[in-house]
Amino acid sequence: MTFKPIRKAVFPVAGLGTRFLPATKAIPKEMLPVVDRPLIQYAVDEAREAGIEQMIFVTGRGKSAIEDHFDIAFELERTMAERGKDLSVLDPTRLGPGACAYVRQQEPMGLGHAIWCARDIVGDEPFAIFLPDEFMHGTTGCMAQMVQAYNETGGNIISVLEVPQDKVSSYGVIAPGEEKGALTEVTGLVEKPAVADAPSNKIISGRYILQPEVMRVLENQEKGAGGEIQLTDAMAQMIGDQPFHAVTFDGKRYDCGSVAGYVEANLALALEREDIGEEVREKAAELLA
Ligand code: UTP
Repeated sequence: MTFKPIRKAVFPVAGLGTRFLPATKAIPKEMLPVVDRPLIQYAVDEAREAGIEQMIFVTGRGKSAIEDHFDIAFELERTMAERGKDLSVLDPTRLGPGACAYVRQQEPMGLGHAIWCARDIVGDEPFAIFLPDEFMHGTTGCMAQMVQAYNETGGNIISVLEVPQDKVSSYGVIAPGEEKGALTEVTGLVEKPAVADAPSNKIISGRYILQPEVMRVLENQEKGAGGEIQLTDAMAQMIGDQPFHAVTFDGKRYDCGSVAGYVEANLALALEREDIGEEVREKAAELLA
């Protein structure tokens, strides 16, 4: 059986990023670099690797740096060319004409509401969602792994990872059904449960493939945890009507929404780099001595 291909990705980037203030007062959190690439660039690269063609950014006030990042930087490029500098470093920032769209979420009313703001651009087809502050790092990208699973099961797919049971209360958690390799059937979803009520230690980790019906569920959605319109609550309503699976990501996830996770990602990626890895290792060893 073949399923409709995943051609569009939504990047909700309208959050306030309060955990990174004052850095995020004038700069979106998604523009913070891991080594020398902004978080949003890694997410877009992961989408392209998975065969996704159209990038839809749900932005808010003060987020125009993201639009500029994926545009031509005329003065910069001309000056670099005149000085004989290598422009290929900018290649990943080039999204072809019409390959990106921006829609504004006027008020940060929650992740579910941000996704709903993209409903007309998404239209009537399955689509991917990337939370760029969840930085997924693997030999094969997380979304590519999910698309592979989607091609077999269709329906809705979310990426999950296992955390210690006492950490579950900060996340969306799945109730697991049948397991087959990296694929787990999802029989329920709950946002930020108390430790005692959590149905598993598998948390939703920032990547989704959803059927367009989720937009209609979001349309009528009441506010949930934190007074926000929660995507998890909308997805939970779709279980039973449509196939719903979780893929355990084969790779490493860095929680770049938290300051410590962000620092960890920077260190890990710097250590992996051929050009600076050795120097960073020496400096880190000195600091730890
Ligand atoms: P977070 O829960 O990390 O919130 O949002 P935040 O505002 O970005 O950061 P803190 O907690 O204040 O530091 C998860 C994702 O959902 C987006 C965010 O941009 C982030 O990618 N989001 C959240 C929206 O686009 N709109 C919202 O109303 C809420």
